[in-house]
Amino acid sequence: MGEIIVTDLKNEKHTVEATEGLSVMEIIYDANVPIKATCFGCCSCSTCHVYVDPEWINRIEPRSEEEEEILDMAVDFRDNSRLSCQILYNNDLNGLQVTLAEETKTD
Ligand code: FES
Repeated sequence: MGEIIVTDLKNEKHTVEATEGLSVMEIIYDANVPIKATCFGCCSCSTCHVYVDPEWINRIEPRSEEEEEILDMAVDFRDNSRLSCQILYNNDLNGLQVTLAEETKTD
């Protein structure tokens, strides 16, 4: 058990409880921070797009080819862009900071 810090589209920070084995998208969703996540983890949309804090980017598993393909089509792609459903949380990521991208907007 740990926590991650999520900055939402209103620039508000949420510190949310994180459980090992869940994806970062699921953790955000379970904490009721709005995130669209249309395909809910199938790596076929980009509505779970987040920007990982630069301090953390090299501490998480790199993108898979599948994730790269989806992110290629993402709006406002950045070097620290990730699909949050493809980041599996473990306790080494306690304190991870991510910022939601525009595509996660729910309405
Ligand atoms: S929820 Fe669709 S790619 Fe992550």
